[in-house]
This record gives sequence, C-alpha cells and structure tokens, in this order.
Amino acid sequence: MDTALSDWFARVGRDLPWRHTRDPYAILVSEIMLQQTQVERVIPRWIAWLERWPTAAALAAASPADVIRAWQGLGYNRRGLALHRAAQAIAADGWPADLTALPGVGPYTAAAVRNFALGEDVLPVDVNIERIQARTGHAFAAASAQALMDLGATVCLARVPRCGECPLAEECPSRGQRYEPARKQSRFEGSFRQRRAGALRLVAEAPRPMAELDAEAVVSLEKDALVQVVDGVVSLPE
Ligand code: ADE
Repeated sequence: MDTALSDWFARVGRDLPWRHTRDPYAILVSEIMLQQTQVERVIPRWIAWLERWPTAAALAAASPADVIRAWQGLGYNRRGLALHRAAQAIAADGWPADLTALPGVGPYTAAAVRNFALGEDVLPVDVNIERIQARTGHAFAAASAQALMDLGATVCLARVPRCGECPLAEECPSRGQRYEPARKQSRFEGSFRQRRAGALRLVAEAPRPMAELDAEAVVSLEKDALVQVVDGVVSLPE
C-alpha cells in the first residue's frame, strides 16, 4: 500500500510550504497552527509568521501582546501563547529530548516534528491518518505521513470517501463503504468562543475599560493569560 500511496502522492500531492523545510521550529509553528485551523487559512499566516519571527529565539523575544495580535484570526488563541512559551523554553534550554515537555505539544505534534524535521521513523497519527489505518487495516510506514495527510484531506474523507479516486482502493477492505455524519465541530456562531474572540479583538486594538466589554469573556481570557485587568482596564499582556 505504501508504494501505491507514494506514486499517487508524487502525482497529485499538495505543494504545501512547510514541506520545503526541515527546520524544527518552522515545522513546530506549522503543526501548532494546523491543530485546529484549515490548511488554506494557515498557509499565508505561516509564511508571515516566519518572516516576522524566523527563529525560536526571535519569537521568544516578542511580547505576549505581539504574539496574541499576530495569532488573531487563527482561532484558539491559547495555542499562540503556548507556542510563544515553547519558543522561550527552546531559546533558553534548547530542544528537549521529549518534545511533549514543550507547552502546546502533545504526542501527535511531537511525532510530526520528529518525522518532518528530524527525519525520525515515527508516524504522526492524527484523526485523518487514524481513519485511513482503521479502514485499510494497514500499518503505514512513517515515510508515508505527508501522503496520508493528503489522502485523508482529499480522498479518504470521513463520511463519503472517494474510493473511485483512491490509490489504495484495490486492496482496501472498506472500499465503497459510507459512514455516519461525523460529530460536527461545535458552532462558532453564538458560542462562548465567539464572545471570547470578540472581546480579545477589541482589546487587541486598544486597552478598554472592563465596563465596555463582555465581562464573562474577559474573566475567561484573563484565566488563560490572554488579557490582563489593571484598575478596571483590560489590555494585552506586554
Ligand atoms: N495537518 C497537520 N499537519 C499537516 C501537514 N504537515 N500537512 C498537511 N496537513 C496537516
């Protein structure tokens, strides 16, 4: 299966910018951005981020306020702060042997950095790859990781897989199956997440009195260290 997959990937694989680097920091930034944000939205933001902060040391020297502003629109702002703290840890002590020691880095992200940057023989298993493994019953090689990500994103879709276009269909025991609607990502519209994002956007523009803002959202943002409240004025942490 790995050969059929790699032939397919050579033909129609996506040309994503982070596939042209082996810099662990650049890969870490891409994987943290990609954790909950779509590839198309991440591409321009990843390029801009690395232009502004090309190294972990450069990012470590930024203020949390600048990092929060630069993360605006990517969603789940805590990820931006975690990346900032990870950069500070790397700048101070170097890369840890166990990458999950870094803030915001779980087993998946650690495996992705080890594979894509360090060339280690570990397969980063995200939900897409997990689905392909379950359907095919195949234990894929670590070298197939990028191809599997593309297959999961474009062909082996969660609900209605495009088996007619799949390089693995011939050998796939799940060929032609349909699946129940996956659990949808909870609605952003009208959610508390949206209220938090709205309050953070206002504070990122300029410090504001608490009275002008959604107080519950501000309390929650403050708990995550995304804002600070001093004398009733809410601002980004400098
Ligand atoms: N999603 C998470 N990591 C990815 C990567 N490296 N390429 C494409 N999609 C991804």
